[in-house]
Amino acid sequence: MKLLGVILLTMTSLAAASAATTVQHSTFGHMPDGKPVEIYTLKSAAVEIQVMTFGARVVSLDTKDRNDKMGNIALGYASFDKYLTDNKTYFGSVPGRYANRIANGKFALDGKTYQITINDGPNALHGGKVGFADLNWSGKEIPGGVEFTLVSPDGDQGFPGTLTAHVRYTLHDDKVVIQYSATTDKPTVVNLTNHTYFNLSGDGSGTILNEELTIDADKFTPVNSTLIPTGQLAPVAGTPFDFTSPHAIGARINENNEQLKIAGGYDQNWVLRGKMGELHPAAQVYDPASGRVLNVETTEPGVQFYSGNFLDGTFSSRTGAKYERRNGFCLETQHFPDSPNHSNFPSTELKPGQTYHSETTWTFTTRK
Ligand code: GLA
Repeated sequence: MKLLGVILLTMTSLAAASAATTVQHSTFGHMPDGKPVEIYTLKSAAVEIQVMTFGARVVSLDTKDRNDKMGNIALGYASFDKYLTDNKTYFGSVPGRYANRIANGKFALDGKTYQITINDGPNALHGGKVGFADLNWSGKEIPGGVEFTLVSPDGDQGFPGTLTAHVRYTLHDDKVVIQYSATTDKPTVVNLTNHTYFNLSGDGSGTILNEELTIDADKFTPVNSTLIPTGQLAPVAGTPFDFTSPHAIGARINENNEQLKIAGGYDQNWVLRGKMGELHPAAQVYDPASGRVLNVETTEPGVQFYSGNFLDGTFSSRTGAKYERRNGFCLETQHFPDSPNHSNFPSTELKPGQTYHSETTWTFTTRK
């Protein structure tokens, strides 16, 4: 009875919050085949977020700074065509069917070996050559947000099974909720995330190295020279990977540490303390310049913290500034990289009749 009360209360407050959210949509651009790409604008008193059907991507994210001034904190482009020319950054996208890396693009399932298309040195990254980030999903308005749907055919990039994936973005006052679900008609693997690059000082405002990060993890998964986990769960204590208390992202990034050198900064997966399948803290970021605070919670067992090491000035922001190295960071909540090849990692297998569920929330507040 008590539980029912809590559930009813939660449902009522979520419904009330989404009632205060307005949703509008329009055409943002066109795919090379002429199909329209739709953009949805979700707006509450505290947040305005734009998401589009192409790659189920976050295009912009406006939140308040400590003086209540709204500003965009998500890296991205003002015109759709720019997204078609950038096949490198994954700005705002939902990578899939397997976010992050699979070693040599190879794994075995029920005794059969599968080969995924290779697109990152010797490995498959973010689902292979043409991943979910590059596809135009379909969009449908739902209360307080939008649901994107994609059907990935059996054999897509080498993955077995027809995978039907849904991503829902809803806005509840100062909280963005991202819910992922998927079903398959053959055993397969699935790992979905969101690849938004944040700069809490504002998109196009330069470095993120002064922003202060906390990660709710005592261990991380060290990687080899091609960024594939070794399989070890290593303690963060005494290393530059210890974000159990807040540290500026840049405070230790240039230390003489093998893992930092391999990745050219941070680009590893942390093993979250919380219980998989239940919403638990993942990371918090505080920006002393703007006062903005981002709080990330997730049902996933891991988070990839990526410090934007591969941004190299090739692409320019909507403000005109070039996106240089470490001008944005990602917190990609996920199952661990290369899980299909590590039996000691939580499984990413999905069987027919099962439904994959994952949820991540971003809450935006400020500090004086
Ligand atoms: C992920 C990877 C990084 C990089 C980016 C995209 O975060 O872990 O190594 O490939 O995507 O540039």
